[in-house]
Amino acid sequence: MFNLVLFGPPGSGKGTQSENILKTYQLQHISTGDLLRDEVSRHTPLGMEAKKFMDQGMLVPDEVVIGMISGKIDDAPDARGFIFDGFPRTRHQAEALDKLLEFKNTKINLVLALDVPEPELVKRLLGRGATSGRSDDNEEVIQKRINEYHAKTQPVASYYNEHGKLENVKGDNTIDETFKILSRHINKYLLPVA
Ligand code: AP5
Ligand code: MG
Repeated sequence: MFNLVLFGPPGSGKGTQSENILKTYQLQHISTGDLLRDEVSRHTPLGMEAKKFMDQGMLVPDEVVIGMISGKIDDAPDARGFIFDGFPRTRHQAEALDKLLEFKNTKINLVLALDVPEPELVKRLLGRGATSGRSDDNEEVIQKRINEYHAKTQPVASYYNEHGKLENVKGDNTIDETFKILSRHINKYLLPVA
């Protein structure tokens, strides 16, 4: 099994690149942002709790997010591996994921971190906000998300670097060019299916 964390600030292209990677390598996609938006749209108690944080550009509490992950892994027992997109986002989440995977006799193999300058992030997120219907479509919420990233999420990169799993990738090329660079790293572990 091959498990990949796709890491980077809001707007760095994690969702976009995940789609390409999961098709090429036949991996299962676990995006906590998508899972949370699904809970919000179904008006579940978890969704209602999460929405308060998401609308303000803040991280949802660790317990809520960690609780969603285990079942998603168990839902795909024959998976070739997983792409974790937008998770883990705090050091506590990263430690919890390691414990969970160890319990399931597997581990994170590689962490690819997309590096994109801040003005480009803001430009991309405003562009997506025009059509996405997401609540993070204005400059105030986008800036809060970037601040949350620096305060709480960036330490996750150091965590994986300490474990020798982190590779930094320049993320402000075209979508195709970035995918090529990501693939070069993944190919060291897993060959494309098609
Ligand atoms: P979530 O949905 O996970 O947000 P995210 O994935 O970090 O950030 P984005 O989706 O904004 O960016 P992305 O990196 O996926 O970029 P994308 O490919 O879309 O989280 C939303 C909220 O949920 C959080 O704020 C938080 O409240 C909560 N949450 C989620 N997970 C959580 C967790 N683990 N813990 C706590 N809270 C959590 O690209 C962005 C745009 O750029 C697109 O329009 C795309 O077309 C464009 N683009 C992409 N690549 C390129 C390129 N190379 N060139 C030009 N444009 C590009
Ligand atoms: Mg995303």
